[in-house]
Amino acid sequence: MMTDECQFSSASIFQGSGSDVRRHTRPGAPAAVLPGQEPWLVAKAVIGTGPQPTTAMNPIFAELPTTIFEVMSRHARDTGAVNLGQGFPDDPGPEDVRRKAAEAVIEGWNQYPPMMGLPELRHAVSEHYRHWQALDFDPEAEVMITSGATEALAGALLALIEPGDEIVLFEPMYDAYLPLVRRAGGIPRFVTLKPPRFALTEEALAQAFGPRTRAVLFNNPLNPAATLFSPEDLDLLASFCRRFDAIAICDEVWEHVVFDGRRHQPLMSCEGMWERTIKIGSAGKIFNLTGWKVGFVCAAPAIMRVLAKAHQFLTFTTPPNLQAAVAYGLMKEDGYFESLRRDLARSRDRFTTGLTDLGFDVIPSEGTYFLNIDIARFGDADDVAFCRRLVLEHGVAAIPVSAFYAEGAVKNVVRFCFAKRDETLDAALERLSGVVRQAA
Ligand SMILES: Cc1ncc(COP(=O)(O)O)c(C=O)c1O
Repeated sequence: MMTDECQFSSASIFQGSGSDVRRHTRPGAPAAVLPGQEPWLVAKAVIGTGPQPTTAMNPIFAELPTTIFEVMSRHARDTGAVNLGQGFPDDPGPEDVRRKAAEAVIEGWNQYPPMMGLPELRHAVSEHYRHWQALDFDPEAEVMITSGATEALAGALLALIEPGDEIVLFEPMYDAYLPLVRRAGGIPRFVTLKPPRFALTEEALAQAFGPRTRAVLFNNPLNPAATLFSPEDLDLLASFCRRFDAIAICDEVWEHVVFDGRRHQPLMSCEGMWERTIKIGSAGKIFNLTGWKVGFVCAAPAIMRVLAKAHQFLTFTTPPNLQAAVAYGLMKEDGYFESLRRDLARSRDRFTTGLTDLGFDVIPSEGTYFLNIDIARFGDADDVAFCRRLVLEHGVAAIPVSAFYAEGAVKNVVRFCFAKRDETLDAALERLSGVVRQAA
């Protein structure tokens, strides 16, 4: 699985994008990494455009198109654009946590760690959630460590779904969800959320839930909307889960990246949800170390027993040195977590103010590394056309939010990643002023 990016819908809207990419990447050959270029982007280009297989492959993955994310990133590199499409921070992550990892590599255990995760990390996860979210997990029976939230999601879906089961998905949604649900044999039932609030409604839930509902896959705080669901939304969703006897797979990787004094409320804390929720977190977002891929899964023992079996045959374990460093990090003083939010909120405010002063309609960002703008007033055909114009004519890469929808796409919202240095944000704003001048 790659990164923060989405594999469906508007991926093919840029006609000819595949051949564009092919011109730059010799099929089948490992692409060279140019100075200043992230290796994962090169890998993405190869994944999107390599030679076609000669034997039949499973169509769910074989037929995934070149994504809008690959196209935007490539345009950004080709044109030297400021890239605010990619969802990772400039911040290198806390030095003490990185040093712990380095020490653990040199002095620690580098063989297979326990399948469920290092005991010290499972205890730290349990302590951490008791402190921050008033959840009380038994570290021996209710906590498991995975290779990122992505593995936890894949494992949960494989462990739960019987072919033909219906899975409720909320769009806009994270890229991995739909192919994983489909590959596990699940039938997606979409709840379409609309800007600016992206809130749940009883009618939409009533249409999506039914007697064949097995699970819901719920992301809160929500990427790419950059919103938090309200306590009323959570109670409403919990009532549907109870009524239809559905399990909630809760992707809460952004739980610490919330702003303006907000606190993340886990769905698991709602009435009757403890025994039917799989809570998933990620150290990548808590420590601005997105490449570490250390995830945590918390669930009641009866569910955990089955999740552990899926994990056993997916990755079995996660690098022990990174686990040791995350265990240390989770026990850091509250000040670290507050400053993570404060620093990101400062970048959000700098970029929001800059955009608003230029005349853009900013949709408030309540959490995550992202903020969105409403582009309706610019008269482009849709968000993809706007983003193409933005990168090719103005030198700023962003992501059209329609790419996160499978049906019922919202086409007037564009996502920027603001977790960047001030100079990068200012350079983007300078370029974005051209968009407004052109529209005037
Ligand atoms: C909603 C969501 N879920 C999961 C992930 C992936 O987390 P990890 O890197 O821990 O696999 C991301 C990364 O951007 C995300 O935004």
